[in-house]
Amino acid sequence: MYKLEVKNDVFFIKIFHFSCKPLIMLQKELINWYLLNKRELPWRNTSNPYIIWLSEIILQQTRIQQGLPYFEKFLKKFPTIKKLASAQNHEIMKLWQGLGYYSRARNMHKTAKTIISNHKGKFPDKYHEIIKLTGIGPYTAAAIASFAFNEAVAVVDGNVHRVLSRYYAINESINTAVGKKLFAQLANDFLNKDAPATHNQAMMELGAVICKPQNPLCNNCPISKNCLAFSFKQQELFPKKEIKLKVKNRYLHYIFFSFKGKTAIHQRPAGDIWQNLYDLPLIEFDRKIETEELRNALKNENWFKADKKLKLYLAMQAKHKLTHQNLFATFWFIALNQKPKLEVAFIWVDKTDLKSYAISRLFEKFLISQNLI
Ligand code: ADE
Repeated sequence: MYKLEVKNDVFFIKIFHFSCKPLIMLQKELINWYLLNKRELPWRNTSNPYIIWLSEIILQQTRIQQGLPYFEKFLKKFPTIKKLASAQNHEIMKLWQGLGYYSRARNMHKTAKTIISNHKGKFPDKYHEIIKLTGIGPYTAAAIASFAFNEAVAVVDGNVHRVLSRYYAINESINTAVGKKLFAQLANDFLNKDAPATHNQAMMELGAVICKPQNPLCNNCPISKNCLAFSFKQQELFPKKEIKLKVKNRYLHYIFFSFKGKTAIHQRPAGDIWQNLYDLPLIEFDRKIETEELRNALKNENWFKADKKLKLYLAMQAKHKLTHQNLFATFWFIALNQKPKLEVAFIWVDKTDLKSYAISRLFEKFLISQNLI
C-alpha cells in the first residue's frame, strides 16, 4: 500500500491507494456522514481565523467540555485580535487560570501583538505564513489555514492518525521521522481538495466519536467497509507508537593531565556507555556546575591524590548525543610538575600515543581539537 525508498539518505514514500472504492467516493461518504452527525461546537460555524485559532489553542491539551467555558469567557473579554494585543498580560493569565500550559496564553498574546504590528492587524491567510507565528505548529497552522481560508492542507492530529492507521493498517509508528512524513503525506493524499475545511473537520470528528481509541463504533462508521483493521478485527492494534526512552542529560568533566608529555587514561567499566574503551579521568554531575564546584569535587576525589592547588584550564566543551543520553562534556587541562597518585586503574601514556587506543568518538573529537590526531 506504501513503499519506502531511500536515496542518498533521503527517504521517499510512494503511496498506492489499494481500496476498491475510488477515493472520491470515500471522501463523499465521509463528508455526508459529518454533515449529518457533527456535534454543534461554537467554533465550527465561523471562518474567523482568530476564533478558530483560539479554539485550537485551547483544545491542544484540553478536552472540549473543560475548554468550552474558557473559550467563551476569553472571546467575550477579547473579541478581536486587536483587543487581545492591547490587553495586559495579567488579565490574559487570569482568564487562563486553571487551564494549565500557560505558555499557550503567553504565546497567543505575543502573536496577537505581532499580527497587529507586522500584518496590519490581519491574520495571515496562507499556511506557510501562519506557521511562522509563535506558538503555532503544523497542526494548528493547517487547522486555521483550512477552516478559515479553505486552503487545501490536511490536519494531522491524534484522531487523524487513528483513522488513517486503521483504514490502511499502517505498521509504521506515528512518532518516528518516517511515520510523521508518511502520515502527513497520506492525510494530504486523502484530503478532499474541493472541500478541505469540511473534510478536515470530518476526519477529526470521525476519530473523536467513532474511530475511538478503545471500543470504536465501527458499525456506525461511514468508511468501515474498506477499513483494513476492521476487516481483520485488529482496530486496537493501531496506531503503532514507538515507546521513546527518556533522554538523560549527563555533565561530564574530563581532566587531561599533562606530565612530562604523558597523560592518564583508564579503561571504562562495564554497565555504562563505552564499556572497555579508554577514557580520561572523569567527574560527573547531573546538572550544570560552576568551576568552583568542580574544584571542590576534585579535592574530594579519592582516585586523585596530589597537591590540589591546581590550575584548571578550559580546553574544550562539546555536546555529544547518544541514543538516550545527551552528554555535555567539558575537557579541562591540568599541567603537573609532580606525578600525582592515581588509582591503580589509571595508566600514564604518551599523549602522541593516544591515537593507538580504542576510544569514544567524543574523546577522539577532543584529541583532534588538540592536534593530537
Ligand atoms: N479538537 C481539536 N480541534 C478540534 C475541533 N476543531 N473540533 C473538535 N475537536 C477538536
